[in-house]
Amino acid sequence: MDFHAARAALQWQVELGADEALCDAPINRYELPDTAPGKPVGVAPVVKVQPVAAPVPEDVDPVADARRMAQAAGDLDGLRAAMAAYQHCELKRGARNLVFADGQRGARLMVIGEAPGREEDREGRPFVGRAGQLLDRMLDAIGMARDAEAAERAVYIANVLPWRPPQNREPTPEEIAMMVPFMQRHVELVAPDLLILVGNISCFAGFGKRGITRLRGRWAEAYGRPAMPLYHPAYLLQQPQMKREAWADLLQVQARLREVS
Ligand code: URA
Repeated sequence: MDFHAARAALQWQVELGADEALCDAPINRYELPDTAPGKPVGVAPVVKVQPVAAPVPEDVDPVADARRMAQAAGDLDGLRAAMAAYQHCELKRGARNLVFADGQRGARLMVIGEAPGREEDREGRPFVGRAGQLLDRMLDAIGMARDAEAAERAVYIANVLPWRPPQNREPTPEEIAMMVPFMQRHVELVAPDLLILVGNISCFAGFGKRGITRLRGRWAEAYGRPAMPLYHPAYLLQQPQMKREAWADLLQVQARLREVS
């Protein structure tokens, strides 16, 4: 197989969802010799390549470190840089991109999702897949849009986790806890009037509670702002009969946006 055929075959597998390469048999790399096979021993010292990122000391509290880095960020670009520099979250190592945010920085409404999926990881933007398209239609139904220029119609969108979990697995409570200080700062810097928290992970990060079926439709407070929990659009794609409830919740958001304008 030539280079181009091999590349096309690999691309095809990635399209199908493959995101790891496995050998036929396991290799214990801890037991491999330090030198490459066949290399004459003793000719030249093996030069150790320095890791790109400094190793994280084990006694550092990841949440305290996140809080310190997030609080030091004076604006959204600084926050993005702080998240890119954060080394404690394992998810970062498997992701292609940091998915920071999309939409208008002066927006009155901020939507907080869970974590990027495959499309988002590839593009580096939140909610660009099928669930994202439904989210855009839902927002449009109440006159809001991420690409609206006028602040009163504008939406800003971010996720609790900026990195895609492998195979879209559920993030652990530790992974969520270490990203909450970044979301707290994110909300402070965007300063929206209202928040929408979509899905269970987002509610767990914002309220410390799960159970979207019970939480949805009732205003609560998250990150110091009024927040409406909403069914995740990915769930609505699977359970379209629930759109009726989501629509009622969105109407509450619309009414409150009118009240505070
Ligand atoms: N689901 C989310 O919660 N966020 C995304 O960005 C995409 C899907």
